[in-house]
Amino acid sequence: MLNNIIELDKKYYMNTFGNRLPVCFVKGEGMTLTADDGKIYYDFLGGIAVNALGHSHPKLIAALKNQLDKLIHTSSLYYIENQARLAERLANASCADRIFFANSGAEANEGAFKLAKMYFYKKGIPKTEIITLDKSFHGRTLATVAATGQEKYQKPYRPLTPGFIQVEPNNYDAVVNAVTDKTAAIMIELIQGESGVHPMDVEYVENLRKLCDEKDILLIFDEVQTGMGRTGKLFAHQLYGVEPDIFTLAKALGGGVPIGAVCAKESVAAAFEPGDHGTTFGGNPLATAAGLAVMDIFDEEKLVDNSAKMGEYFKAKLNSLMAEYPDKIKEIRGSGLLIGIELDPEIAKEVFDKLFENGFLTSLCGGTAMRLAPPLIITEKEIDLFVNKLEKILKEI
Ligand SMILES: Cc1ncc(COP(=O)(O)O)c(C=O)c1O
Repeated sequence: MLNNIIELDKKYYMNTFGNRLPVCFVKGEGMTLTADDGKIYYDFLGGIAVNALGHSHPKLIAALKNQLDKLIHTSSLYYIENQARLAERLANASCADRIFFANSGAEANEGAFKLAKMYFYKKGIPKTEIITLDKSFHGRTLATVAATGQEKYQKPYRPLTPGFIQVEPNNYDAVVNAVTDKTAAIMIELIQGESGVHPMDVEYVENLRKLCDEKDILLIFDEVQTGMGRTGKLFAHQLYGVEPDIFTLAKALGGGVPIGAVCAKESVAAAFEPGDHGTTFGGNPLATAAGLAVMDIFDEEKLVDNSAKMGEYFKAKLNSLMAEYPDKIKEIRGSGLLIGIELDPEIAKEVFDKLFENGFLTSLCGGTAMRLAPPLIITEKEIDLFVNKLEKILKEI
């Protein structure tokens, strides 16, 4: 079956993903995925930080089935109970007062840019520039590509959406030098995920908050990857103790059902008035039923606490492994269950391939950093399985 699927993909699907890993999953349960040939894989990437509940969580499925039996979509012309209830849950759980739902991370970030611009437009101050960071990743739409500080994503699409400026991460002076009287917002990931799990320093983030307050600039956190318990707190801004004016969510919010969110303080959110922004699908009854179920299950199963606890356990194990193999593992980074293992560039690809062959799914960022973002339901048993396998591979290489 796999060969037929690969043939169809190569013939009919746009070649944006090139040669994918040669596997096609047909079933998932908890921490594992089953391929069409019956082989079982442990999912240490969680659909790139999406499957926080693992696969086929019975309560998520029950909530979705229940919603499917009633209603999938109505449109934004009418009030939507789940949408209002999920907005309330997110606002009560964070520093935000109001929420807008989109369908993806990029779309949530687009909403955040529009809100920042609208905020200053309505104030009668035409500020249009947004400062972001090198090595960031904010999405694949034209504005989010312009925000993403990586040449490989920007180059083919020049001229880019104007107004986006990138500076070096964790360098406060670089931000100060980039600020002008046109700066509307500074947007950062608190832990850069896609480029290999690079955390921002607490002091740097605190200084950005002060700078934004002094200069009337909005601080935006892209929590598309770091949100929803990933870093050991429900939102990474709670880990840093710094409140943004706007933050965005997606990935784990729907447990696999597409949904994104723009979350903002009242004073900023008030800039959006009827007609200023909109969506067909965003926050529809099905997607927001998923979001509500995710938040219920987080509470019932204390998954955010588990993320913090298992993250500590995982990092302690990996740090011991690094002490044993200092030439092969260079650094362990991250918080909670967003973990980066910086590998010796000579062996990184081989380690990744061997883990895959042995049924462990991970990702390799920039050729050397292994990113792990397993489901938040993970237990010590699965962490031990992974670390033991990694140790065996490192010993052999
Ligand atoms: C921090 C961050 N922002 C935005 C995005 C884009 O999200 P999406 O692919 O849902 O558009 C991603 C995706 O990896 C991300 O990691």
